[in-house]
Amino acid sequence: MNTQLLTGFQEWHPAEFAARRRVFETWRRVCRAHAFVEYDGPVLEPAALYRKKSGGELVGQLFAFTDQGGEEVALRPEMTPTLARMVAARQAQMRKPLKWFSIAPFFRYERPQKGRRREFTQLNCDLFGEAAGPIADAEVIALAAALPRAFGLGAGDFTIRISDRSLWPAFLAARGVDVARTDEFLAVVDKVERAPAVETDAKLAALGLDGSDVRAFLAADPAAALPSLGALREELGARGLGDVVRLDPTIVRGLAYYTGMVFEIFGPTGRAVAGGGRYDGLVATLTDGAANLPAVGFAIGDVTFADLLRASPVASARLAAAAREDLAPRVYGVIADETRRADGVRLFAALRAAGASVEYPLGPMKVGKQFGAAEQLGARFAVVIGGEWPEVKVKTLATREEQAVQGMPEAVLAAVSQ
Ligand code: HAM
Repeated sequence: MNTQLLTGFQEWHPAEFAARRRVFETWRRVCRAHAFVEYDGPVLEPAALYRKKSGGELVGQLFAFTDQGGEEVALRPEMTPTLARMVAARQAQMRKPLKWFSIAPFFRYERPQKGRRREFTQLNCDLFGEAAGPIADAEVIALAAALPRAFGLGAGDFTIRISDRSLWPAFLAARGVDVARTDEFLAVVDKVERAPAVETDAKLAALGLDGSDVRAFLAADPAAALPSLGALREELGARGLGDVVRLDPTIVRGLAYYTGMVFEIFGPTGRAVAGGGRYDGLVATLTDGAANLPAVGFAIGDVTFADLLRASPVASARLAAAAREDLAPRVYGVIADETRRADGVRLFAALRAAGASVEYPLGPMKVGKQFGAAEQLGARFAVVIGGEWPEVKVKTLATREEQAVQGMPEAVLAAVSQ
């Protein structure tokens, strides 16, 4: 009987949890700064929601089972179909555009590999009710760029590669390829950078296409074939993002619902850190046409984002320092005289009630050991309760500076708030 941690799942010990929480808090702050509001949906959904709406690889990766009531359900592998259903249900009452974000766990039965887990967290950011156009699309891409930037990353650390699925119907029609084979063709384009050229050429030939013709199209400026991409590039340039965005027709995205502009963020490792695009038809298909709302959005994953930060020594050192700060209590209460323990505990309770993080020994301990514990935990101050009570000593541990303070909560709080 296996009782070990399942492959692709993770336990979050406090040090790792603190770093992850810092990342999520920063994501949340950046989303709010862009006037996005937070929501969540259920973890379990009818499996059909993904079979019909997500398509692509996801369908084979579902954690799906039949529940006790005989319904076929699945742990959510992504948020977009749930979100589209939520928005569709109340869209008539809501002011548009809607700008929503969520930080939540997802599940995919992936092959174990670097950057991929079977449980992972995504930040999803989506904008509903604004027709395709450079301004709404740029608003979403700018938010995506602001996330790594909030950690000090910039040009050279990440690139946002943008394309548009509507580049392809005209290209394929001009070469006599059946529209029904578009997905098959896009799967080849998706892998063109990673697959050996002979393999790509063979697949293209099977579609009636010439490899060098396709490669020439991929190398050309896509804005020449699709002016809306040029307008988007200009809009992003005007927002100061010219150095991190690049038009790249090899970006096609694996999910079935995208209808136009698509983009991915890449770090130095070559794996997508985030992905998204326009999906103007999803709300309509979920409501059988009753509601129709254009949409554009993306998701960024915690695992890939952590890899991106790790590639930057400055960003990772800053994050580690912030996480350490979260783990450390502000105050360590040193009980130097056990007969004063009750007074000390009362004072520490008052400090905690005022919001200060306070640790103290739960039983008698040598004073030197208590200072050792304070340093090990990374406390900033030691508040020493001793024979001089009601006077206490407040010691700044880094500098060894010491001051005598009355053992009243207000006075001690003031001393440890500097
Ligand atoms: P996706 O490309 O499937 O898109 O996932 C987006 C991001 O989630 C990926 O770039 C990656 O960072 C992360 N991710 C996906 N699968 C895993 C995994 N197994 N382990 C770790 N990280 C993973 C979507 O999910 C779309 N619903 C995004 C979207 C939102 N489109 C419009 N709105």
